[in-house]
Amino acid sequence: MLYQIAQKIMMQIDPEKIHNWVLGFLNKTGNSQLSWLYRQNLKASPIKVMGITFPNCIGLAAGLDKDGEAIDAFHQMGFGHVEVGTVTPLAQPGNPQPRMFRIKSKKAIVNRMGFNNKGVDNLVRNLEARKSSIIVGVNIGKNKDTPVDQGKNDYLICMEKVYPHADYITVNISSPNTPGLRSLQYGELLDDLLGDLKNKQSELKEKHGKYVPLALKIAPDLSSEEISIIAQSLLQHKFDGAIATNTTIQRDKVAGLTYANELGGLSGCPLNDSSTQVIKQLHGYLGDQIPIVGVGGINSASDANSKFKAGAKLVQIYTGFIYNGPNLIKQITKHCPQL
Ligand SMILES: Cc1cc2nc3c(=O)[nH]c(=O)nc-3n(C[C@H](O)[C@H](O)[C@H](O)COP(=O)(O)O)c2cc1C
Repeated sequence: MLYQIAQKIMMQIDPEKIHNWVLGFLNKTGNSQLSWLYRQNLKASPIKVMGITFPNCIGLAAGLDKDGEAIDAFHQMGFGHVEVGTVTPLAQPGNPQPRMFRIKSKKAIVNRMGFNNKGVDNLVRNLEARKSSIIVGVNIGKNKDTPVDQGKNDYLICMEKVYPHADYITVNISSPNTPGLRSLQYGELLDDLLGDLKNKQSELKEKHGKYVPLALKIAPDLSSEEISIIAQSLLQHKFDGAIATNTTIQRDKVAGLTYANELGGLSGCPLNDSSTQVIKQLHGYLGDQIPIVGVGGINSASDANSKFKAGAKLVQIYTGFIYNGPNLIKQITKHCPQL
């Protein structure tokens, strides 16, 4: 009820302005008395994925809290995990504004943020300062100015810095808003990247005495053959997880609507089916060898269930959370698969 009223007001305000305001509010209140405004004590339904026991099956998807500023508040809301980032080695401003657009009638968002973030060192400070014990995944990417053929170094730099502070690390090669990034999803570039990241993981495991799983986040705009090749690479390099999917560049489901033709990635309800299809195909290749985190268009517990049926072990939400608020977390936790 409280969120419904707040949401009506928030939807009248510029999306990025209200996003920043709310994140600032959550940052200040996550550990204060005011957190009662959004706190939810949800029944635990533990599930083991990538060797980690998650308290429930629902997490916050990457991109909402890029700099890890409100982790404690998201814990209070009942999320079982939070994926922060995408973070890059150096701070960068992202694309010019406006760069986030609501398509309200479809419960969708188009964004071309372009990895705006305050850099990996700032994120590490925020991770060190967090008070809650919530499971945190760190989503890493490359700076816009780094040429794609040198992009691997950016991932290695971020990985080295966040490794001691992360429960898992996501390698994001699927954002449509960093030119050339998605080319890392194919052939030799992918094999080379995954191989070097796994070598780095072994090195860091020795150094820090802990194993931090690595997950690859992929796009929904892949052919069956491309999904099959990615799956072979994941298996070959013994990657620990896959996250499917990022936003889509397709617009067929929103054609003709205001903002449909804005450049960027589309998320929310119109993405639901294509993301589920990718999960299903990926699961066909990976079976139970590599777990899949399902994300894309989840707007209800039944959408989450479709992701589990397609083979996902965990789910994440971003756009559905914006349109429905913390109640969606509660609804989904009621349907988490049992350990
Ligand atoms: C405004 C916005 C920013 C995003 N930024 C990132 C990001 O930095 N890194 C990333 O991996 N995904 C990012 N995403 C993608 C989401 O994590 C998610 O994969 C996608 O939106 C599909 O889920 P949804 O339909 O629940 O939103 C972003 C999504 C939105 C809407």
